[in-house]
Amino acid sequence: MQSIIKLLFIRQGLRTRALARAGGGKNVVNDLEEILLSEEEIAQRVKELGAEITEDYKGCDLVVVGILKGALMFMADLIRYIKIPVLMDFAVVSSYGASTETSGVVRILKDLDQPIEGKHVLIVEDIIDSGLTMHYLVRILESRKPASVKVCTLLDKPSRRKVDIKPDYCGFSIPDKFVVGYGLDYAEYYRNLPEVGILKEELYNKC
Ligand code: IMP
Ligand code: MG
Repeated sequence: MQSIIKLLFIRQGLRTRALARAGGGKNVVNDLEEILLSEEEIAQRVKELGAEITEDYKGCDLVVVGILKGALMFMADLIRYIKIPVLMDFAVVSSYGASTETSGVVRILKDLDQPIEGKHVLIVEDIIDSGLTMHYLVRILESRKPASVKVCTLLDKPSRRKVDIKPDYCGFSIPDKFVVGYGLDYAEYYRNLPEVGILKEELYNKC
């Protein structure tokens, strides 16, 4: 009996190692060059941001606008640490498609469900890179006469900026590397990673 159990364990071990070797698609964490931000680091910072936002918006009518799909996890975690009443809304804007460079063309694919006139709006984004998406969004939302529009981003790559925009709240400033995880994707994959990591360059620079 014991030898059968041992045999099963060995088989399972070999299987796990084979999957790990296969890399992409099997165990997504193997596609990372390096883990930049651990689950714990992210959770701690998100908590701090939530507390800061709670303090800054006391007594305000706040609408938190998440930019899908990248801000999904950040938004879900962040609002749990905002201790004042908030309304949630979402927008979908066009992004990079399957490339890692911005096209410079920004389109709203899904607009807000509710009017924001007279309300304080906090846009929640996964990352600000060139700044083009956020610059455009802020302008669109400001034209709807809200009381204020501010930006909260989990990640910021200030060295990549093409337009002048500075987030009001920022989780982490990061170097000019393509990152995935905790909502951020490459070609729609890797969003499910609980940490943020640098994607191995050979996975997106194939030519
Ligand atoms: P921006 O308009 O260049 O600032 O780009 C913003 C959008 O590009 C973000 O909302 C992301 O969807 C995407 N993006 C920019 N940098 C990265 C990255 O390093 N990893 C994944 N997505 C990124
Ligand atoms: Mg995005």
